[in-house]
Parts: sequence; structure tokens; C-alpha cells
Amino acid sequence: MNIILFGPPGAGKGTQAEIICQKLNIPTVSTGAVLREAMKNGTPTGLKAKQYVEAGELVPDAVVTAIIKDRLSEPDCANGYILDGFPRTIPQAEALDAMGVKIDAVLSIELSDEEIVNRLSNRRLCGVCGASYHLLYNPTKDNVHCDKCGGELITRKDDDPKVVMNRLDTYHSQTEPLKAFYNAKGLVKTVSGSDTIPEITRHILAELGT
Ligand code: AP5
Repeated sequence: MNIILFGPPGAGKGTQAEIICQKLNIPTVSTGAVLREAMKNGTPTGLKAKQYVEAGELVPDAVVTAIIKDRLSEPDCANGYILDGFPRTIPQAEALDAMGVKIDAVLSIELSDEEIVNRLSNRRLCGVCGASYHLLYNPTKDNVHCDKCGGELITRKDDDPKVVMNRLDTYHSQTEPLKAFYNAKGLVKTVSGSDTIPEITRHILAELGT
């Protein structure tokens, strides 16, 4: 099953992808996570991406499309995958079509801008394994270290409120039009992002018929 998790920044795509990929036993491919890792390691891709990510703008289509093409050709993607954060523009969706990828479902997680700003201000990431937490709604045992690997929790630079506003503008102008693109193919299934994390997982799995 090839699934796209779609939605605004902070809607819960990464959180749900992490849970659902274990339930369905398929990998998650997150362009945001790949870019953050590349930035951390100072690779050529990371250096190209840094200015865009930190400003809350989209990395050029050619850069992210190349990442996806490489990643989807790896053996663990042979039985399906969850795409988190890709595609984000119509040209990216067209590039996916041109790769011969058949999408089975686009799960759109819906959340208001106001709730997004509130959620992202309390998000923390593990600086080592990248696991995502929330100080109030999805805390670790001590809200200082990661429950999975013990790494220290950090705040993402692009969760600065000014950058979040820019990410929301970018989402509404460049990414939201993709909903119509996939609606025309009859693939979009909508779930509310304001329910609890387990409730959203249940709704997604029900929409997928699993
Ligand atoms: P990316 O990493 O993809 O960021 P995003 O789409 O902005 O999404 P987020 O990771 O911020 O949020 P999320 O929806 O995963 O929410 P989460 O589960 O963490 O991209 C980052 C940047 O990389 C982009 O801005 C761009 O520059 C670049 N980029 C990436 N892909 C690209 C592409 N294809 N093209 C071009 N550029 C690209 O949840 C948020 C918080 O809420 C967490 O704290 C979580 O614990 C909490 N939470 C989750 N669910 C719930 C719930 N139900 N109730 C309460 N709290 C919850």
C-alpha cells in the first residue's frame, strides 16, 4: 500500500506515520526528516536545503524529488510506504506520477492554523533519533530526554513562531492545492487532526480499511 499523509505543518503527520508504519509494517519516507539529517551532517543536499527550511520555505522541487526517487528504489519500499511531507507541490506530485508510483490513498489530517501554532510551540524532537514529542500532549517521562533512545530533546529552529507563520502561508499557497489534484483522482480521505493521537490512528486505519 502506498499512502500519502497530507496536511499542514504540525497537523500530526509525523506522529501518525510513526505509529501506522509499525501497524502496516511498511517504512515511512519523510522528506523533512531526510533534510534535517542532511543538514545535521552538512551534506551537499543539507547545505542546499538549510536556508529554505530555516526560513519556512519549500526546498526546490528538483532537490526533494531526487531524494524521493533514490529512497523509493530501496528494497524496503518494495511492499509499500507512507509518504510524510511529499509531495508538497503540483510539480512534485507530477514527478511521482512520472516515476510510475501508484498512490492508494491520500490521508488528509485537518487542523486549524490557531491549533497548529499552539502545538508547534510545545513540540520537542529527540536530537539523536528524531522522535517527535509534545510537552503537554505527548510528553516523555521527564520532558528532557527521549523515551526511545535517551537522547536530549531539542526545539526545531523552524518551530519559531515567525517561521511557523511563514510555513503556514507556504502550505496554503503551494501545498493545499494538491488536495484538489488528488480529489480529482478520488484518493483523498479526510480525518480531523484535533482528536487524540490514538483516535486519529483509529480513524486513519478505518479509512484504509485495515
Ligand atoms: P516537515 O518536517 O515535513 O514539516 P511539516 O510538514 O511542516 O510538518 P511537521 O513535521 O512540522 O508537523 P507534523 O504534521 O509531522 O506534526 P507532528 O506529528 O510533529 O518539513 C520541514 C521543512 O522541510 C519544510 O518547511 C520545507 O522547508 C522542507 N521540506 C520537507 N518536505 C519538502 C518537500 N516535499 N518539498 C519542499 N520542501 C520540503 O506533530 C506536531 C506536534 O503536535 C508534536 O509535538 C506532536 O507530539 C503533537 N501532536 C501530534 N498529534 C497530536 C494530537 N492528536 N493531539 C495533540 N498533540 C499532537
